[in-house]
Amino acid sequence: MARLRVGVLISGRGSNLRALIAACSTEAYPAEIALVISSRAEAPGLGIAAAAGVPVAVIPHRDRRSFAAEAQPLLCERRVELVCLAGFMRILDANFVEAWRDRMVNIHPSLLPSFRGLHPQRQALAAGARFAGCTVHFVRPELDFGPIIGQAVVPVHPDDDEARLSKRILETEHRLYPLAVRLIAEGRVRVVPGAVAERVEIMNAQIPDILALNPQDCSGGPFASNPG
Ligand code: GRF
Repeated sequence: MARLRVGVLISGRGSNLRALIAACSTEAYPAEIALVISSRAEAPGLGIAAAAGVPVAVIPHRDRRSFAAEAQPLLCERRVELVCLAGFMRILDANFVEAWRDRMVNIHPSLLPSFRGLHPQRQALAAGARFAGCTVHFVRPELDFGPIIGQAVVPVHPDDDEARLSKRILETEHRLYPLAVRLIAEGRVRVVPGAVAERVEIMNAQIPDILALNPQDCSGGPFASNPG
């Protein structure tokens, strides 16, 4: 079966790009990276793509419309079928996003719809959240918003700072993004209208049977309630 042709948009480090490239290097994986576009010429992710032999392009982000006007023909030329935003730090032109409706996904390091926008890990810490994580979702013109395909959860530790929490979340991103792209490539993902918001249905999804408490039960500890 033909592999889904993926275009990845980056602006920086490129660790999610690396995870996608690694997944695509497996023979059984149903997608391949057809093009990487960076909004910054100095993005380290460009080196990762080049080392893997993936075609790259740099489109400096002067404004939303000109970026879209340059990116669209390149994506078409490379016959890209799915666009993955992976640390792409610019807001995209709304018409461009609509042109890729349900064919463009993003990864965001929070459990959406909580903590949209910049520094979501810092926002989670500031809010005292006990769990954090990441989300892969279809892209809509609104920032960090759109039907949710998958999420991964990690606990927040009492001694976490932004760097430690970000690292723990990032490790899950590298597992979730290739999984989400695989499900899309296998044709198992579809967006359905809902009463409140659009939702994603996944065919034959396995749902983990977990209950995570944070903190865990510490009966007998200093905060145990004493009904007497
Ligand atoms: C990731 O945390 C991703 O969720 C967010 O930006 C970061 C990009 O990291 N959108 P990298 O460039 O993939 O290493």
